[in-house]
Amino acid sequence: MSARPETNGAKSTILTLQKKKEDGERISVLTAYDYPTARLLDASGVDAILVGDSLAMVVLGHETTLSVTMEEMLHHARAVARGASRALLVGDMPFLSYQADTAEAVRNAGRFLQAGMHAVKIEGGREYADTVYAIVRAGIPVMGHVGLMPQSVRRLGGYRAQGKTAESARALLDDALSLEAAGCFAVVLESVPDKVATAITERLRVPTIGIGAGAGTDGQVLVTHDLLGLFDPVPRFVRRYARLDEEIVRAARAYREDVERGRFPAEEHTVAMPEEEWGEFLATVGPLPARARDR
Ligand code: KIV
Repeated sequence: MSARPETNGAKSTILTLQKKKEDGERISVLTAYDYPTARLLDASGVDAILVGDSLAMVVLGHETTLSVTMEEMLHHARAVARGASRALLVGDMPFLSYQADTAEAVRNAGRFLQAGMHAVKIEGGREYADTVYAIVRAGIPVMGHVGLMPQSVRRLGGYRAQGKTAESARALLDDALSLEAAGCFAVVLESVPDKVATAITERLRVPTIGIGAGAGTDGQVLVTHDLLGLFDPVPRFVRRYARLDEEIVRAARAYREDVERGRFPAEEHTVAMPEEEWGEFLATVGPLPARARDR
């Protein structure tokens, strides 16, 4: 497998993202949850890889992101860290790993860094400013996440776009500004009107990373399983760049048919044995039974 980097190999850091915003260059972020995908995404040149809590849905088969635990997130974060050497790695703090108490939030954020991540992401607006401040003060970079926050899906009453009224758009801007003031190095804006996302982007010094937030943000993030066609259904804002679902079914079906018809394995997949050794073996065990000879 070839996974040659498409960049000069320079490591991407939170400073790289900040410089891209200042230079007007767009930032690309994708999710990964395992070693091989991390290797390939790292080679693709994306700026950052997010070990998202979307793991719960697209890999573990849960209905929402609420079920994934710290231990599960760390397990996948370690695999991603082993696969990537260039991209900025961000670990998504799962539900209940930071909401209840600030000291626990700092400890859990630190565990992501010990697992090989370079930063963490937390969902929530100004109500988490103190938590963000405490995590950043511990030396851990934090990416904020406002708008549609999947961990709040029960409170929001579903996966609904946010910031569609003047009042809620204003609240979103205030949330983003307080996350920036608390020390976030970037803020994800999920499922908000593009005009609102652009207005927030223009007022923030740190980069915004949009998902379902239009083209006016400083960067974009997508769930890799959505982009590759490995998960159904996908939100409207996803562009599918491949249909690996069809490719995997095609390959598995071809394999099954080859096995059933005796076309796999072929000679080149088989371990050879010197004739004289084989003869000696037969001499000790006697001739093969008829069924084995006929194959
Ligand atoms: O968990 C995730 O994958 C995310 C991105 C969609 C931003 O939070």
